[in-house]
Amino acid sequence: TPRVFSGIQPSGGLTLGNYLGAMKRFVEMQEAGEYETIYCIVDLHAITVWQDPAALTRNTRELCAGYIAAGIDPEKSVLFNQSQVAEHAQLAWIFNCVARMGWMQRMTQFKDKVGKNAQNASLGLFAYPALMAADILLYHATHVPVGEDQKQHVELTRDIAIKFNHDYKVDFFPVCEPVIEGAATRVMSLRDGSKKMSKSDPSDMSRINLTDDADTIARKIRKAKTDPEPLPEDPKGLEGRPEARNLVNIYAALADRTVEDVLAEIGGRQFSEFKPMLADLAVAKLGPISTEMARLMDDPAEIDRILTRGAERAREIAAPILRRTYDIVGMVGPT
Ligand code: TYM
Repeated sequence: TPRVFSGIQPSGGLTLGNYLGAMKRFVEMQEAGEYETIYCIVDLHAITVWQDPAALTRNTRELCAGYIAAGIDPEKSVLFNQSQVAEHAQLAWIFNCVARMGWMQRMTQFKDKVGKNAQNASLGLFAYPALMAADILLYHATHVPVGEDQKQHVELTRDIAIKFNHDYKVDFFPVCEPVIEGAATRVMSLRDGSKKMSKSDPSDMSRINLTDDADTIARKIRKAKTDPEPLPEDPKGLEGRPEARNLVNIYAALADRTVEDVLAEIGGRQFSEFKPMLADLAVAKLGPISTEMARLMDDPAEIDRILTRGAERAREIAAPILRRTYDIVGMVGPT
């Protein structure tokens, strides 16, 4: 069976972007029955920028609760946190020695994050995509469900696999594919249709958090930026209207419908009519997730048990692959 791997950073607060761009797809792939699914809380990635230790602990548990509340079943999928499986860091080191400086310097996410201040970024932030490649390749995963913003990192993972196989004259690491599907692969800020919805945006009004209550969700959608035109009858009419496009994409993704289909129904209506429909749908879909997250967070010991069990299962797959990698590289090990 083909393997699926993906991860989310426990850097505080899950957004509607994380849910529609990633988690919803994770659940679909788990339920498809065609894959072995492995989902990770990537705490080693999170600390590439400063994380308060107590907050990291809390955010790790909260993300675990979020995964489960969104539909990840720790029996069906392997669910764990990255630092509990030391093989991630070990393989990442080898990939640090495979990847080239020039490849890393082309990463747009790094450039966007550090701006003009690259000298002050952590070395880990620069090397981050090599760790991400290790996450995926440690399981020989071939399918990587992600939002649009992670595409370049998955492509770099392919480059690392190809160069490793080439340098060591082996056919060991598979070449993986990003899975970027659905109506909302890039959810935009509610305040600015040219910016990605992000947990790091200073304005909380720019995003919907999975922990927002019904009133908050409704208020954020009511205040979302729009243009004065009514909704178009087909997707072509969304061109040059990033805010309108974003809200329609969100609606379609939440409703599991295509944008064409949604516009055929609601085209011609004003935002004053569409926004309450969107708010009702968002509350109906997200409300149960936040309720379940809060319930799970009441029992942190149970969350920790789930993660420990997940890490054991992950290590069963990862350890032999790391050992074979060491053999290929020529590292003497246990006999
Ligand atoms: P992270 O934690 O930033 O985001 C987790 C997932 O959510 C998606 N996402 C979005 N999708 C659509 N619209 C948005 N506004 C939006 N914001 C976030 C991201 O694309 C991602 O799929 N480097 C990764 C984590 C990672 C990983 C991996 C992913 C580490 N190792 C191995 C896949 C495979 C990251 O920082 O995601």
